Amino acid sequence: VSAQKLEDGGDEASVRRRFAAAGQDHVGAHLDRLDRPRRAALLAQLATVDLDLLQRLVAEMKRDRPIVGLDIGSAEPPDWLALERVAGSDEERRARRLGEERLAAGKVAALVVAGGQGTRLGFDGPKGCFEVGPLSRRSLFAWHAGKVLAARRRFGARIPFLVLTSQANDEATREFFAAQDHFGLPADDVMIFRQGMLPAVDFEGKLLFEAEDRLALAPDGHGGTLTALAASGTLDALEARGIEDVFYFQVDNPLVKVLDPAFLGHHHERASQVSSKACRKRDAAEKVGVFASSEGRLGIIEYSDLPAEMMNARAADGDLRFRAGNIAIHVFAIDFVRRLTQGGLRLPYHRAIKSVPYVDANFEVVTPSHKNAVKFETFVFDALPLAERTLVLETAREEEFSPIKNREGEDSPATARRDLDAAFRRWLATAAPGAAPEAIEIAPSFAFDVEEFAAKVAGVRDLASRRLLLE
Ligand code: UD1
Repeated sequence: VSAQKLEDGGDEASVRRRFAAAGQDHVGAHLDRLDRPRRAALLAQLATVDLDLLQRLVAEMKRDRPIVGLDIGSAEPPDWLALERVAGSDEERRARRLGEERLAAGKVAALVVAGGQGTRLGFDGPKGCFEVGPLSRRSLFAWHAGKVLAARRRFGARIPFLVLTSQANDEATREFFAAQDHFGLPADDVMIFRQGMLPAVDFEGKLLFEAEDRLALAPDGHGGTLTALAASGTLDALEARGIEDVFYFQVDNPLVKVLDPAFLGHHHERASQVSSKACRKRDAAEKVGVFASSEGRLGIIEYSDLPAEMMNARAADGDLRFRAGNIAIHVFAIDFVRRLTQGGLRLPYHRAIKSVPYVDANFEVVTPSHKNAVKFETFVFDALPLAERTLVLETAREEEFSPIKNREGEDSPATARRDLDAAFRRWLATAAPGAAPEAIEIAPSFAFDVEEFAAKVAGVRDLASRRLLLE
C-alpha cells in the first residue's frame, strides 16, 4: 500500500480492517482521534508493518515457550581450538601467515554492529561516540576505524569498514563519521547500513504508540545484520569487490583485535562458514552466551536462556562444563551469508521485556516506572546452527575482551580503560622493558600488532615519559 493511495479513504478502510483482523482493533480507534495530516503519517507507517509476522510473534509470546536457536535439552559442550593447543604452535603461525595473505589480497572486510540502543550504559547518542581513549578521549568508533586503518597500511589493501546502525542512531552516526573525516579512511570504503525495525507491543500483544502519529518501534536485533547486508545492497558491493570473508564484532569492545590474521587464517584453512572466538567464562554467572553443540550443529545459548543446572555444571577437570563464553567476534563467509539471505532467512525471534514510553488514550506521554512492553529481536549467532562447517577458537580475555556495558562496576568504562592500559603496557614492555609511564595510550592506527609496534618505537628515546601518547 503506497502512501499516495492512502490519501483515498478506501485504502484507509482496508488498513483498518487488516489491523482489526490481526487483533489490533485499537488502531482504528486511535486513527479516529487524529486530524488528517497526522492520520496520513500514521497510515503510511502502518503500511510498512508486516502483519503476518506481528501475528506470529504475538501468538508465540502468548504461548510463552522459550525461543532458542539450539535444542537445549540435548546440548553438549562443543569442540574448540583451546588456547593451550594453539598458542605459540606451528598451526598458529601457519594460520597467521594465511590470514595475512588473505588481508593483503583484499579478501576481507570489517563489520561493527552498532545499531543497539545501549540502554544499560545510559549514554545519550550512538554508543560508538562514547569516549574510551585513556589519554586522547578517542571514541569507540575512532578506535575501531583506527584498527582498520592500521591493517590497510600494513597489508596495502583496500579493506572496507562496514557499520550497522538502526533508525534510532543512523543519522547521528553518519554525521559523526563525516565530521571526523571518516577517521582517515576513504569515505567510499566506509559503508554505513541500517538494520530493520519491529514494533514493540504491550503484554496483551497490542501495538504501542510512541507519539500520536507514530508506533513504538525497536531495532530488530543484530540478526538483522544479515538481512540488512542483502537488502541494503552492501552484500552486492562486497561481492563486486571480491570480498570473501567478513570480520564481525560489537561496538562496545575496545579490546577486539580487529581483523586478527590468525583467526582469519584458521577460518579459511578449514573452509569454515562461520567462525567464532570464545573466552573462558569468568564465573558461572557471567552474562555471556555459551557455545554448545547439539545434533552435530554448533550454536550459542544466551545467558538468559541457560538453565541454572547447566550454568553451574562442572566437567571432570573441575572447570565449568559450558565454559566457552561468546565474545561476539565472528568471521562470516560471504557465500554463506548470500545463501542464507537468498532463501529468505528465518532466524528465531527472541523476546526482551523492556520499559517503553507510550501515549495513552488521551494522547498523554506515559514513561512507565516498570517494564510494560515486549520487543522482538533476532540474534546473529542463531545463524551458527545453519552452517555445516564452523570453528570456535579460544582466546585470552585480557587480550581481546573488555566490553563496555554498564555505567559502573564490571564491564564498564573504568574496566575497559584499565584493560586497555594493561594491554598498552604489555606492548611497551617488549620495546622498553622497565619503562613505567604514569599513563599510556597507543593509538590504534599507530601499529597493527606488537611486532610492528616494536619496530616502530625502536630508537624512540622518550618512551619513559610520564604521559606517553603514541599517535
Ligand atoms: C551480547 C551477546 C552475548 C555475548 C555478549 C558479549 C546477544 C543477544 N548476546 O550480549 O551472547 O556474550 O554480547 O559482549 O547479543 N546490536 C545491534 N542491533 C540490535 C541489537 C544489538 O546492532 O538490534 C548491537 C549493539 O550495538 C552491540 C551488540 O549488538 O554492539 C550487543 O548488544 P547487547 O544488547 O549489548 O548484547 P549483550 O546483552 O551484552
